[in-house]
Amino acid sequence: MKNFLSIQQLSGAAIEHLITRAADLKLNRKSSPQVLAGQTWALIFNKSSTRTRVSFEVGVRELGGSPMFLSGAEMQLGRGEPVKDTARVLARMVDGAIIRTFAQQDVEDFAQFSGLPTINALTDDEHPCQILADLQTMRERLGGWKGKRVCFLGDGDCNVARSWVWASARLGFELVIGAPKEFQPAGSFMSAVPGSSVRVEADAARAVAGCDVVYTDVWVSMGKETESVERIEVLRPYQINKQLMSHANPGAIVMHCLPAYRGKEITDEVMEAGADVIFDEAENRLHAQKAVIVEMMRARSE
Ligand code: CP
Ligand code: NVA
Repeated sequence: MKNFLSIQQLSGAAIEHLITRAADLKLNRKSSPQVLAGQTWALIFNKSSTRTRVSFEVGVRELGGSPMFLSGAEMQLGRGEPVKDTARVLARMVDGAIIRTFAQQDVEDFAQFSGLPTINALTDDEHPCQILADLQTMRERLGGWKGKRVCFLGDGDCNVARSWVWASARLGFELVIGAPKEFQPAGSFMSAVPGSSVRVEADAARAVAGCDVVYTDVWVSMGKETESVERIEVLRPYQINKQLMSHANPGAIVMHCLPAYRGKEITDEVMEAGADVIFDEAENRLHAQKAVIVEMMRARSE
């Protein structure tokens, strides 16, 4: 794994290996391998972030490197300099790049033109770092994903949902996407996904039934703000609340990638009741991403 651009690119075994490494790094946080000693890693962000930015800045430091945060809007990128030129400039100066942006193609182009180890820190298509932390949390709380059923509720065609779809296809656990027809995964996307582990269900209660994990994300992803009113109206029946949770398996956990909008995709009551899991999930971003970097450094030294 020379770059980490999607869950799609990984095999099930590679995902398992990353989660095991993440657990190990969590256990031995104070003695992290110094695989980035003497290195500078650029964080290029074209969208807002709390968790991703902080976990990568801390993670790069814990691995011995120096993070350099760059707001895309303040770079020449924001005034139209092509990604492929920016990539070749940074390749002369830094040792790795972590990118949050809109088009998946931009992250792919950056990796190609820079030759630097490059990580997708969220695009419109995928949020692979999030899903690794989610799987780590699932393993901690439920012992793993084998035989488990996960329900993703809300915007079933967003980046987080798509990364979940790939995780299900690669690892074989059942995933139910609970979403109205306007926000179900696009047919063109689903036709590329192998296997039959993913089911789409328009009825929220039926989607949650028999699930061990009930997961949600914001209804209005970054870049979709002009659709806010319509989204909130159409997605209202998919809110995770106590009544909806009564359809899930006993002992089911609630997960949220955060930030959470209480009263929209989740109630305050359910959010607070599940806070232990949800904030473990946020913490696991740090450990999972450190695992990704360690694995990339290993692959590149071979
Ligand atoms: N979950 C997540 O990626 O959070 P941020 O947008 O705060 O980075
Ligand atoms: N789907 C959300 C994830 C935020 C972490 C977004 O893209 O805004």
